[in-house]
Amino acid sequence: MAGDASNPIEELKTRALEELGATDSAEALEEWRVSYLGRRGELTQVLRGLSSRSPDERRTIGAAANDAKTALEENLELRERAVKEAEVNSQLAGDAIDVTLPGWPSPSGGLHPTTRTARELCAIFASMGFQVVEGPEVEWEHYNFDSLNIPRHHPARDMWDTLWIDYTDENGDRPMLLRTHTSPMQARVMEKREPPVRVVVPGKCYRYEATDATHEWQLFQIEGLAVDKGITFADLKGTLYEFARQFFGQERRVRFRCDYFPFVEPGAEMAIDCFACAGEGCPICSGTGWIEIMGAGMVHPKVLEGVGYDPSVYTGFAFGIGVERAAMLKHGIEDIRHFYSNDLRFLRQF
Ligand code: DAH
Repeated sequence: MAGDASNPIEELKTRALEELGATDSAEALEEWRVSYLGRRGELTQVLRGLSSRSPDERRTIGAAANDAKTALEENLELRERAVKEAEVNSQLAGDAIDVTLPGWPSPSGGLHPTTRTARELCAIFASMGFQVVEGPEVEWEHYNFDSLNIPRHHPARDMWDTLWIDYTDENGDRPMLLRTHTSPMQARVMEKREPPVRVVVPGKCYRYEATDATHEWQLFQIEGLAVDKGITFADLKGTLYEFARQFFGQERRVRFRCDYFPFVEPGAEMAIDCFACAGEGCPICSGTGWIEIMGAGMVHPKVLEGVGYDPSVYTGFAFGIGVERAAMLKHGIEDIRHFYSNDLRFLRQF
């Protein structure tokens, strides 16, 4: 009987399976199930109608109808699974290719204005042949003071309000501190190498100091050091003048005046003409037309001797720049305390 299209049950089964193959949703499947296998479904009707048949017919038609029922049920299950899988796949595929959906914003940090400025300053000196080196923030008194011609009990130590570390050595001394400037790296670098030396040292420094608009107890400096045969004050001026023009503007003029730092002789303070008023006098330059930007000088012979360099052969210059101060001048920041108060409204401007 199988394959006999004239047989109504076989015809029903073929038609049902064909329709089943075309269903593509859960709703269509349910509709199909109801119309063939439901209580009023076609196949159900055939089985119900058996009672009015002869026993012979009942046997043959009944068997065929039961076979057909099993076949339809099995195929329904397979089709259900296939339809579900197709639905999930199309959802996934939809997700994967919807490139128009806005992505999750990934918050990206930025460099702190101090870091930015320090890098900018170092890059300028690097372009003139200076190497960038770094050193410890917890320092020995020896490097922070003695090696810089500031012996113990010398009043010059009062120039730096020092945070001492609570550590006592075997002699009962307290020789450890938070460096008050980056100058200790002068001796550390020279001890380790022979001239010529040309380095800049960016780093944090600490001072036991009350804070106000121009003072912080933590600050960032860049130390510079150049030592070789035949280095003169003209080299110092030329280098720092070039730096000032690159950082503050090509039209800048510079002024050097005598100043005292124990580790340089002669010592100088360098100022630039005020970029806000071009020397006329304004609040930024306190009416003077000039803005002091760093200390500098020719390395003191005692500093050179201390590291074993012969001061009759070698000379050099050194300088120290306050990084926050440079940033304040360049960007018109009126209070140094903004740098470390962690206010995003300030930090996001850079
Ligand atoms: N270390 C000094 C300070 O913190 C700044 C300074 C002045 C550094 C003159 C130098 C220099 O190298 O030559 O006040």
